[in-house]
Amino acid sequence: METITHPTIIFAAATASMTMFMLHQRQKVKIIVETKKKDNVKRQKKISLSNTMPSFSTHAIHAGQPPDSSTGGVCVPINLSTTFSQNNIGVPTGANHPAGYNKGFDYARGTNPTRNAFEICIAQLEKGAKYCAAYGSGMAALTTVVHLCKHGDHIICCDDSYGGTQRLLRTIAGPIYNISSSYIDFNEPGALEKELKQYPNTTLIMFETPSNPTLKIIDFEKVVKVAKKYNVLTSCDNTFASLNGSQPLTFGVDIVVHAITKYINGHSDVVGGVVLTSNIELYKKFKHLQNSMGACLSPFDSYMAMRGVKTLSIRMERCEQNAMEIATYLENHTKVEKVLYPGLRSHPQHELACRQMSSFGGMISFFVKGDLNDCRTLLSNLKLFTLAESLGAVESLIESPALMTHHSVPLERLKEAGVEPNLVRVSVGIENVKDLINDFEQAFSFVGR
Ligand SMILES: Cc1ncc(COP(=O)(O)O)c(C=O)c1O
Repeated sequence: METITHPTIIFAAATASMTMFMLHQRQKVKIIVETKKKDNVKRQKKISLSNTMPSFSTHAIHAGQPPDSSTGGVCVPINLSTTFSQNNIGVPTGANHPAGYNKGFDYARGTNPTRNAFEICIAQLEKGAKYCAAYGSGMAALTTVVHLCKHGDHIICCDDSYGGTQRLLRTIAGPIYNISSSYIDFNEPGALEKELKQYPNTTLIMFETPSNPTLKIIDFEKVVKVAKKYNVLTSCDNTFASLNGSQPLTFGVDIVVHAITKYINGHSDVVGGVVLTSNIELYKKFKHLQNSMGACLSPFDSYMAMRGVKTLSIRMERCEQNAMEIATYLENHTKVEKVLYPGLRSHPQHELACRQMSSFGGMISFFVKGDLNDCRTLLSNLKLFTLAESLGAVESLIESPALMTHHSVPLERLKEAGVEPNLVRVSVGIENVKDLINDFEQAFSFVGR
């Protein structure tokens, strides 16, 4: 059975725990916080709480996660039931459950209390979203989006999107479903409109910002304006910026995708993905595809990711601080040709990043001076940075996009997208930044010897 949720029900469930929290807060109209100025003089700051809506970090801990009504347990339990007893024939149990979507539960592929709670939480955290559906991987979430297209349609994608996305479009969507795709630099003036004219059968625009691995920033407003003119859906893979880094739906983008494998879970121990929208018709399709194709997120992984997202805002804050310091260090290094980080003034879309992003994130790419061998020397001498694919976790990871994450992309396409053999991608973690810089320093000493 397919389960569809009415928007008000999602919000009711998402804010159930928040209501209690806010009632408690409203009683104390003002609080006094003592802060210290640099000169150590104490000053008092009044913070008015009366009309304040809960913020991101509060929602991350409470949305969709009220204490368990039967035990008082403060964590949403992992519910492993695959099937749920019915009160009557065709009347599922659990309509009043906070994650029951007012329909209750019948079979776990379609609805599961732990996954539903996670979906409610993420829908609350992605600004502009009303609905969320969770899948077994980021690729399963992207595959779901591609299933909005039909035989004969065309997809326009950004030229340096994740290699797995390009592989999905080139080796599956194209040959199996006859959905063609083309790849452009969204920052080239007029390129998107030109492509839409060339492919009038385009029904979907897929892009990432910051893009993977060259960290280009794409202007939401510009993309949405052109897409609306041609009546084409837009889907933004928001994995790199994460939930609190940029908010594509608030600019009118139709769909947001996250690989929760990355920042949302944040501990390199879950593979999963989500699709978000504020459009009920799209959401119905996503739920239908979740149930019909069966690529749903497991209860255990839902629990883990819900636990991970509770600390997202403080993890992202630290990742960004560390990334800014490391990017500056790299930019001043004699063995580095060029650094790509949206927080640096030298980044080609730095101003756009300042306008559009609330955090520059923890991803840095840079070109090592020299060739692939110099790159290999650097990567093989690092001790703290782990040589590994993936990103967005507490530990710092480093990789060669051309040889690792993007190796499935044809070589000439990589060159066009600026993914040269000497490009290195770093996912900055939350370790002590001095230790990370020291690690770079000792590894660089082996380069070009
Ligand atoms: C930007 C981006 N989107 C999607 C994915 C796919 O996610 P998953 O590995 O969970 O399938 C990745 C994986 O690295 C990614 O970097």
